[in-house]
Amino acid sequence: MTELHLWLRHEDRRTERRTPIVPSDARRLVDSGVTLTVEESPQRIFPIEEYEAAGCHVATAGSWVSAPRDAVILGLKELPDQPGELTHRHIFFGHAYKRQPGAETLLRRFAAGGGALLDLEYLVDDHGRRLAAFGFWAGYLGAALAVLQQRGRLVAPLTPTSKEELDERLQRADADEEFTALVIGALGRSGRGARLAFQVAGVEPTCWDLAETRDLDRPALLAHDVMVNAVLATTPVPPFLREPDLDDPARRLRTLCDVTCDVGSPLNVLPVYDRTTDWTDPVRRLRKEPPLDLIAIDNLPSLLPRESSTDFSAALVLQLLEFGTGGPWGRCLDRFHQACRELGIAEGEFRDA
Ligand SMILES: NC(=O)c1ccc[n+]([C@@H]2O[C@H](COP(=O)([O-])OP(=O)(O)OC[C@H]3O[C@@H](n4cnc5c(N)ncnc54)[C@H](O)[C@@H]3O)[C@@H](O)[C@H]2O)c1
Repeated sequence: MTELHLWLRHEDRRTERRTPIVPSDARRLVDSGVTLTVEESPQRIFPIEEYEAAGCHVATAGSWVSAPRDAVILGLKELPDQPGELTHRHIFFGHAYKRQPGAETLLRRFAAGGGALLDLEYLVDDHGRRLAAFGFWAGYLGAALAVLQQRGRLVAPLTPTSKEELDERLQRADADEEFTALVIGALGRSGRGARLAFQVAGVEPTCWDLAETRDLDRPALLAHDVMVNAVLATTPVPPFLREPDLDDPARRLRTLCDVTCDVGSPLNVLPVYDRTTDWTDPVRRLRKEPPLDLIAIDNLPSLLPRESSTDFSAALVLQLLEFGTGGPWGRCLDRFHQACRELGIAEGEFRDA
């Protein structure tokens, strides 16, 4: 029987309605002996009462800062800027190992407090495959928004919806709205989601993955009306698009959706824009004539909070039931130490996590 104390925090980001653990999986954890504290959260898609009914303790939003030191704090997106020193082990998406903006600051906060980041992006099996991911729904939303934009039907601001509602909008098409689409990273989770959304919208996309980009055919890429980038870049490769490509007179490309959103990272395959878009302004015009519109939203699955949380939680709960110092969680911790070493943060600054 594990003595794990998990603390599910409220998400600081106001638009974030997802949760890494849904009430039915919370019950599984509690039944297996895990102490689970859940912070109240006005925007979480599942009401606190459902967690309470599952046997969880309830705490106020943001109270993780004074949680017992051995509690493991669980969330999805970024932490608030304070406290400056992080004393707990935190499970969330830190986006801190690819030299993203703010990465070093975050890792130094852990070093200062003696805590540790167990980054969900690096929770992998023996073969390096991700064990819990939102990719499928990110790709689904990315392609869906690109379709709506291409058809002139994207309405801002974006708000969370259900798959049923979204599909209904995707299926409303006129015959004169035909266009070609390309998915890069088509064999991955996001890529599969993107392909399904295109299918729902009645579009048969061209599918590229590693084999098709090894010797990149940029003119072929630019000959598509819509492109969805869904790659997971782990080593630098030549960019798929560069600034001069956008001015290529042969460009048909009108709508570019970057699901990957590696902007600011040296691994970025689309260095043609410098900041993401968001729910309020989901589309940015990169070129006027002919038009080229960018969608680069880094919290796409939050637009389908119920569906994406339920899938993610089903995968994560299996790992939480096996929480320990070895296996995937051990690898997560090793990756954290490695990232700190790369930034010159001394290992001795950390307590054993
Ligand atoms: N925008 C969002 O809200 C959001 C949400 C979740 C994930 N993501 C991001 O989406 C990306 C994809 O995630 P995933 O879960 O689908 O990953 P994945 O590992 O399941 O799939 C990635 C795919 O990209 C392919 N790939 C890698 N390099 C390539 C290259 N140079 N050319 C062509 N194909 C290449 C791989 O072969 C694989 O099939 C990640 O960067 C992830 O962080 C974004």
